[in-house]
Amino acid sequence: MSLYQLVYYSRNHIAGEESDLAREVEAILDTSRRNNERAGVTGALLFNAGCFAQILEGPLEAVESTFERIQQDERHGDVSVLAIEPIEERSFATWAMGFVGRSSKNAYRFAEIGLSSGFDPEALDKARIHALLKDLVRDEEGLAA
Ligand SMILES: Cc1cc2nc3c(=O)[nH]c(=O)nc-3n(C[C@H](O)[C@H](O)[C@H](O)COP(=O)(O)O)c2cc1C
Repeated sequence: MSLYQLVYYSRNHIAGEESDLAREVEAILDTSRRNNERAGVTGALLFNAGCFAQILEGPLEAVESTFERIQQDERHGDVSVLAIEPIEERSFATWAMGFVGRSSKNAYRFAEIGLSSGFDPEALDKARIHALLKDLVRDEEGLAA
């Protein structure tokens, strides 16, 4: 079965205090892990107060139907696809949805990418996001890939 990987970037539309944000993101992760496991989708979600970046990987149909739902979600907007392409193997095989955003150090590293690109998705380098996510998920989840 051929595998695909989709990388996108979006702007956060969740308003409120930090605790409201944290609660919403936890809810997104719960749903994601439940659905993705069933669909054979793995990946990672990166969040700071301003934006999300996510990598979804799995069979094309599963990735596409998951992404269709995500795009409709009003908790974010300006969803920009950076890449969708076939891959040899999964980068996040053990994560139904790894998460980056708890530690301020990592949130800061993400902000750096945003700043250096002027938050212009066109200017974001998908390889850079990919490498960063892989690195950061490992860091935060405390697991070896
Ligand atoms: C930034 C972001 C990332 C999301 N990632 C996923 C995901 O990986 N998988 C998923 O099923 N839903 C994800 N969602 C949630 C979907 O938009 C949608 O609410 C959910 O799939 C509905 O599932 P349900 O019908 O089981 O409630 C995400 C939402 C946001 C805002």
